[in-house]
Amino acid sequence: MLCREAGSPEVLEVRDVPDPTAGPGEVVVDVAATAINQADLQQRRGVYPPPPGASDVLGLECSGTISAVGDGVERWQVGDEVCALLVSGGYADKVVVPAGQVLPIPPGVSLVDAAALPEAACTVWSNVFMIAALRPGETFLVHGGGGGIGTMAIQLAHALGAKVATTVGSEDKAETCRQLGADLAVNYREQDFVEEVRRFDDSGADVVLDHIGAKYLARNVDVLAIEGRLVMIGMMGGRKAELDLGALMGKRGALIATLLRPRPPEGKAAIVASVEENVWPLVADGTVRPIIHTTVPLSEVSRAHQIVEESSHVGKVLITT
Ligand SMILES: NC(=O)c1ccc[n+]([C@@H]2O[C@H](COP(=O)([O-])OP(=O)(O)OC[C@H]3O[C@@H](n4cnc5c(N)ncnc54)[C@H](OP(=O)(O)O)[C@@H]3O)[C@@H](O)[C@H]2O)c1
Repeated sequence: MLCREAGSPEVLEVRDVPDPTAGPGEVVVDVAATAINQADLQQRRGVYPPPPGASDVLGLECSGTISAVGDGVERWQVGDEVCALLVSGGYADKVVVPAGQVLPIPPGVSLVDAAALPEAACTVWSNVFMIAALRPGETFLVHGGGGGIGTMAIQLAHALGAKVATTVGSEDKAETCRQLGADLAVNYREQDFVEEVRRFDDSGADVVLDHIGAKYLARNVDVLAIEGRLVMIGMMGGRKAELDLGALMGKRGALIATLLRPRPPEGKAAIVASVEENVWPLVADGTVRPIIHTTVPLSEVSRAHQIVEESSHVGKVLITT
């Protein structure tokens, strides 16, 4: 699945391209399913091209069966069912991926549903736990609790003993977030999240995971607790903002901004290994579940992009290939 040109979901089209082959340290996965990420929408619109050298085929994650193994790969064999974190290429029959970015299917999760896990688990685990070091008992605020990232962040933070607050755009999404473990769900269309989070915990939020960017920057700093960590992973509300450095310094606060996709394979492999060690057991025992809004065939990918664009989904939208 490639983009004919930059534009609306109708520019997506199926095209035949040469099969990928496994170089040293890589495996080829015959894709069962992939998932839609905001980055795919941005790539389709022409504002987020894949990193140099990466395939133009959309798709940051997949599940499937290994069909070829390159030199030097010891852990994986042809026939293994896996899921994987990709730099691109998931909306396809076959994708090549460095072996360190491959994960086993957690027990109790179907092969197709496992496509919902790699990007959200790696993004949330690396940012909230490896980088911002959220601790049990701390207050965590994640914006957009009904999204793919939000539903994973709520479950993981709750499972690991944090007090969880989130923002959502509707009462339905608020209810889902509470069921997933959120202690507080603020409807950002009707309520001020700074006021509501401070009513919930008067010290504020120890860690904030934000993808709104410019529009929320000042209020995210306002809501931070002393020694709070604000982690920015998106810019859905704009990329340029003024920051009152005095306000951040007064909190002895940290502002961290990261992107997973351009990290080199070794950086991704370190995150994937930590996710397998720390997150996979929680998925295996059912504490953390893939939250799937719908699964559609590749032929309906335009409709699937539309669903995510309209934000009518909760959790992930999957595509079977
Ligand atoms: N930096 C990285 O490495 C990285 C990796 C993965 C994802 N991301 C970013 O993380 C973000 C979320 O990804 P996703 O896959 O979870 O997307 P998603 O499933 O589309 O979720 C986005 C959520 O944002 C919410 N939202 C929209 N406007 C909001 C606002 N003003 N305040 C609070 N929430 C708002 C939407 O909820 P409502 O419908 O309720 O408004 C929706 O649930 C995206 O920006 C994506 O690019 C970054």
